[in-house]
Amino acid sequence: MPVKILMVCLGNICRSPLAEGILASKLPKNKFSVDSAGTGSWHIGRKPDERSIAVAQKHHLDISNQRGRQFSMNDFEAFDYIYVMDNSNYDDVILMTKNPEHREKVQLILNELFPNENVDVPDPYYGLPNGFEAVYQMLNDACDVIAKKLIEKHP
Ligand code: 4NP
Repeated sequence: MPVKILMVCLGNICRSPLAEGILASKLPKNKFSVDSAGTGSWHIGRKPDERSIAVAQKHHLDISNQRGRQFSMNDFEAFDYIYVMDNSNYDDVILMTKNPEHREKVQLILNELFPNENVDVPDPYYGLPNGFEAVYQMLNDACDVIAKKLIEKHP
C-alpha cells in the first residue's frame, strides 16, 4: 500500500493542485501517492486555474489533468498525511475531525519550512500574476523538506 498524502486549500484550483504536482514529482510513484482537495465546493470537476497550470509548466510540471474535488471526512481515513495551505483551511479541516489521530494528520504546509510559525501560503486567486510564482517557490521549498522526511520515514 502506498503512503498517501493530501494537499488541501480552499478552492482546489490554485495552491493545492500545485502542491500536489510538486510533491508527486519529488517522490517515487511506486511508494507514494499524492492528491489534493478543496474545503469549498465551487470548483468540483474543474481543471486547475490557468495561472497555476502555467507556472507549473514553466517548472516542467504538467498539472492540467487534475480535477477539483471537495475535501470530505473520508479523507481522514484515506490519507496518512494532510497538508493544508493556510490557517483558515486548518480551522475548517480541524472542525471536521472527530478524534486525535485524525487531528495529528493535519499540518500547515509551511510549518515544514518554518516550524511552529503558522505561516500561510497566500491565496493567489485575486492577486497579481507573480503571486503564482511566489506560491510555487514556497511550495517547492516546503515539498523538498516533506519529500526528504517521507523518504527517510518510509524507506
Ligand atoms: P485556492 O484559491 O484555494 O488556492 O484554490 C482559490 C480559488 C478560488 C476561490 C478561492 C480560493 N474561490 O473563491 O472561487
